[in-house]
Amino acid sequence: MSKGLVLITGGAGFIGSHTATGLLQAGYRVRLLDNLTPPVHTGDGTWPDWVPANTERIVGDVRNRDDWSKALAGVDAVIHLAAYQDLLPNFSHFFHINSVGTALLYELIVEQKLPVKKIVVASSQFVYGEGRYHCPKDGEVFPVNREPSQLTKSQWEPVCPKCAGAITPLPLLETHANPRNQYSIAKYSQELMAVALGKNYGIPSVALRYSIVQGPHQSFRNAYSGVLRVFTLQMLAGRSPSIFEDGRQLRDYVNVGDVARANRLTLESDAANYEVFNVGGGKGYTVLEFAQIVADATGQKLPLSPGGEFRVGDTRHSISDISKLKKLGWQPTKTPRDSVRDYVAWIRRQTLDKDYAAEALTKMREMGALRKAT
Ligand SMILES: NC(=O)c1ccc[n+]([C@@H]2O[C@H](COP(=O)([O-])OP(=O)(O)OC[C@H]3O[C@@H](n4cnc5c(N)ncnc54)[C@H](O)[C@@H]3O)[C@@H](O)[C@H]2O)c1
Repeated sequence: MSKGLVLITGGAGFIGSHTATGLLQAGYRVRLLDNLTPPVHTGDGTWPDWVPANTERIVGDVRNRDDWSKALAGVDAVIHLAAYQDLLPNFSHFFHINSVGTALLYELIVEQKLPVKKIVVASSQFVYGEGRYHCPKDGEVFPVNREPSQLTKSQWEPVCPKCAGAITPLPLLETHANPRNQYSIAKYSQELMAVALGKNYGIPSVALRYSIVQGPHQSFRNAYSGVLRVFTLQMLAGRSPSIFEDGRQLRDYVNVGDVARANRLTLESDAANYEVFNVGGGKGYTVLEFAQIVADATGQKLPLSPGGEFRVGDTRHSISDISKLKKLGWQPTKTPRDSVRDYVAWIRRQTLDKDYAAEALTKMREMGALRKAT
């Protein structure tokens, strides 16, 4: 029996396609809205073969009122995933797609008095900026972002904002945010809109801060971010992975199937309304450890060493505290090793028409998004 019609924006993408599969299995009807444009897609207007059958599909743009109106007709709930990602310096693009797109969603629901009962908005762990740390002298501290001038000197670790001493990372809590780059500022604006506009106009809304999401369907054409796809593409091409900074950055990784379950759980849970939740793997791995997992899965015995470059606006250590979402009954079920194995198996079945990873690195260097340390 149908549980209602859910619109997934960005439904042709990585998380969208898995979320659609989960909702279909649970008995929902699913409509997808996606503009199918590069760098995620080929640009020929076709839906990728990873999009599940039995979905209604609309090619449209979240910056366009008419496309939203068409997509929202008769919809019970929305999972809003469409977004522009990465850290390239085309700043306005992040706000046009991510911020204005989300504002239009709420604007049209209010203007047309649409009976949408729930909205789940995708945010990101990136909104934490440098996050939360422990200083032996000053206790809990929130360091300022690392400036490019610091990073060019290979000074990777943030320091205590009070005593300038060494600090150690603490798990990230939803009560904090300190977005410091174009992507995270736009993502945080989406969260603020979901919670504030949702509350003001009685549209139950939830914002989810995903950690690094992994698994099959992550487009290999968009190699500007996504450590798994970049490392996999490089290693399958017989090259060492491009490890930024000193490779000792801690990250947490979450499987895309677990994220799809979090999307559905928070869609269905009234207790989640007007709340922000971390969705993460709950355990930190250094980038070097992660590179070794990809090397094992690809069967490569390449040297794994940092290349002395850094991404402008990147954060040092990020591990999300997932206890809030666990209280709703969710927990991660897969390890990074599971996700990497599945991704490598999937990418081996794809036809790679060019070297997307090399192209992306060149463009990032040209645009000043990736810089050399001395
Ligand atoms: N993948 C991750 O690790 C990760 C981590 C944190 C947050 N997120 C967030 O999760 C969401 C989904 O990410 P994903 O990894 O599935 O990305 P993705 O790039 O695979 O999918 C995004 C989809 O949105 C579509 N899209 C982009 N601009 C659009 C527009 N203007 N109109 C309509 N559709 C548009 C793209 O064509 C794509 O199919 C995003 O909001 C992203 O910010 C992802």
